[in-house]
Amino acid sequence: MKKISILLSFFLLCHFMAWAQDFKITHGPYLYDMGTDGVTVIWTTSKPALSWVELAPGNDSSFYAHSHPRYYSTVAGRRQSTSSFHCVRLKGLQPGTRCNYRIYSREVLSWKGSGKVAYGNTVANNVFREKPYSFVTFPEKRSEETTFVMFNDLHENNDVFNRLCRHIDFARTDLVILNGDMTNYITDEEKLFTGYLDTAVDNFARHTPFLFAKGNHENRGVYADHLMQYYPNRNGQFYQLQRYGDICLLVLDCGEDKPDSDIEYSDLAQYDSYREEEARWLQDVLRSDEFLSSCVRIVISHIPFTSGDWHGNLHLRKLFLPLLNKAGIDLMLSGHTHNYSFHPQDAQCRFPTVVNDNETSLRCRVDGKGIDVEIITQDGKTLAHHYINITPKQ
Ligand SMILES: [Fe+2]
Repeated sequence: MKKISILLSFFLLCHFMAWAQDFKITHGPYLYDMGTDGVTVIWTTSKPALSWVELAPGNDSSFYAHSHPRYYSTVAGRRQSTSSFHCVRLKGLQPGTRCNYRIYSREVLSWKGSGKVAYGNTVANNVFREKPYSFVTFPEKRSEETTFVMFNDLHENNDVFNRLCRHIDFARTDLVILNGDMTNYITDEEKLFTGYLDTAVDNFARHTPFLFAKGNHENRGVYADHLMQYYPNRNGQFYQLQRYGDICLLVLDCGEDKPDSDIEYSDLAQYDSYREEEARWLQDVLRSDEFLSSCVRIVISHIPFTSGDWHGNLHLRKLFLPLLNKAGIDLMLSGHTHNYSFHPQDAQCRFPTVVNDNETSLRCRVDGKGIDVEIITQDGKTLAHHYINITPKQ
């Protein structure tokens, strides 16, 4: 009898553990759209949940000794609980300040129409094993040297992505840029994470914010229409102006590379009119105080438009180059060609362009006088090096 009782207890314990483990954090968290006063934290769970982020000052080593403010995803005052995708904006933070954070998700077991919600277990990131994750909000004034790193065209090659990350000191990296074609075809959420976002999370994205510039391949696949959900910029567009102190980063969306009528796009492409709309936005943004008060101006575009003769390159060149040539741009960073190249400024394009390879990373160090650009191989060696002088702004 005693044996049966022990076996039954063991069975029940196993059953409970399996049930408890069934609900878990599946991907993330990663930090997105960092600003001087906020950031968005994104993660997924195995089942729908009510989720929140707890925040503590960076010098608070005893995260669990005190209660901390909770941030939820809300729509018109109601906390969201029917999705397994969680996207929480932290607001009202101080510029240049370190914050600790921890994510929580409480499983929604059932919710029958008008009835009450039945909750299950609550999971959190690494409660017992690790310190909370942390980040530093963007400063209003940059320090003497600002470092950012760019990856592009990895096309879901996680091995190359990991090898490149090994040679980067992310603790000394202020910002990462993913400059397009990180994927091949966006078929579903799982592919988006396993293709490259999980690798980004493992290496840096829990602590170091990143910018995402859409490449032409991010327009492809049945799930591509959902991409904005994973990169929620505050302006509701993929193109954006981002400030880091007095550095201005103009992130462009290049659209597709071939004409809209190309058979490959299955009658779904309308990128000519999209780029025209984006050019109107650019015209306005180049007149804004946010842009005009910047001292360093860098353009991020997956497709380079100072070289190449495909439709996308030519259309971008026609629409954007006349505007940017008058805007005191210091540097443009691109990818797409799967080959490193450097294009100095000339009569046609009044700023230099660096095109990064698909198997190297690009590191920029911005100081008071210039931008030091280095192309780094998977062995950690320097493939190319350029120093771009910052032009005085009016
Ligand atoms: Fe591309």
